[in-house]
Amino acid sequence: MAGSEKFRSVSLHSITPGEPLPFRVAIFYKGKHLVFRKPGQQMEVAIYNKFVYRQIHRIFIPEEDFAKYLDYQKVKEEAERSLLQNPKYSPEQQALERLTSSVKALSDALFASEDLASLEENVRKSLEISKATVKAVLAKPYFGIYTMLSQKADTVANHSMRVSVLATLLGYQLGFVNPLALEQLAAAGILHDIGKTKLTLSDPFDESIPASEKEAMDAEIMKQHPVVSCDMLSKMPFVPQEVTRIIREHHESRDGTGYPNRLRGSSMYGLSKVFTIANTFDSLVSSPQDGDALELHARALLKMDKELRNQFDQALLTKALAFLTLKRP
Ligand SMILES: [Fe+2]
Ligand SMILES: [Fe+2]
Repeated sequence: MAGSEKFRSVSLHSITPGEPLPFRVAIFYKGKHLVFRKPGQQMEVAIYNKFVYRQIHRIFIPEEDFAKYLDYQKVKEEAERSLLQNPKYSPEQQALERLTSSVKALSDALFASEDLASLEENVRKSLEISKATVKAVLAKPYFGIYTMLSQKADTVANHSMRVSVLATLLGYQLGFVNPLALEQLAAAGILHDIGKTKLTLSDPFDESIPASEKEAMDAEIMKQHPVVSCDMLSKMPFVPQEVTRIIREHHESRDGTGYPNRLRGSSMYGLSKVFTIANTFDSLVSSPQDGDALELHARALLKMDKELRNQFDQALLTKALAFLTLKRP
C-alpha cells in the first residue's frame, strides 16, 4: 500500500540526471512521499537543475527499491573511480577538454570545419587567440569557480564555456584586440550566470498554480541572476570591476528594454555590447529545438539579424554577423 510504504532519504546528487534509473524516486511533499519517477524513467536534466536551483538536495527511494539503488551506486562509483584514476580526467583536464570541444563545435557549425589548420587564416588565428585567452583565464582562481559551477549546474557551465569562447572570438574580430580586454570577456563568459545557482524557482510539484503562471513567475525570478552573480563576485576581490560590469550588463539592450537597469546602449560598457551578442547567440542555439548544429546556428543568426536587431549595437552586430556568416551560402 502506497500509504504505508517506507522511504529512505538520499542525496539528489547521488543520481545522474538524463539517464534511465532502475528504481522509483519520490519527493517529500505536503507531508507525504510522492513517487514521481518509475523504473526505466529518468530525472530530466531540466527538473534536476530546477531542484538544484530550489536547494532541494534530498530525494527519497522506496525501501523496496533500495537494494537496486545501492547496486546502481556501486556501478556508478566503479565507473567514477576508473575515471578519477585516469589523470586525463582531473577537473582541470575536463575543463580544458570542454574548452577544446567548444572551440571545435563552434568552428564546425560556423566555419564548416572542425580542423582549425584548414580554416582561413583570419578565422584560425581568432579561434586560437580565443582558446588561449580562455585557457589563461581558467587558471586559478577562476578555475575553482568554474568547477563549482560544473558541479552545481552543468548546463550553465557548458553555456558559460561556449560564451567565453565566442565572446573573445567576437571581441578580437570586432577590434578589441588588447589582451586585457579579451581576458575580461573570457572571464565574464565563465562567471556571468553563476547567480542562477542561487535562485529559488517555483515549486514543480505545486499544482495550485497553473503551469503557465509558474513559467511567468520563474522568468521574473530568473531576471535577478545578473545582480545575484555580481553580489557573489563582489566577495571575490580578484575579479576586476570591468568583468563585474560586463556581467551586470549582460542582459541589457541597446533599445532600453533589457534588465536589470533598462540601460540604453549609450550607457553600456563597450565590452558589454560585444558580450550580449555572444550570450544571446549561444542562448538561441542551445534552446530546445529540432535540427542539427548547422541549422541551429543559421536560425540563430537570422533571428538576431531580423528580429532582435534593436537589442544590439548596430555597427558591432553588422560586423559580428558578417564574420559569423563568413562560410554560409
Ligand atoms: Fe544570463
Ligand atoms: Fe548566459
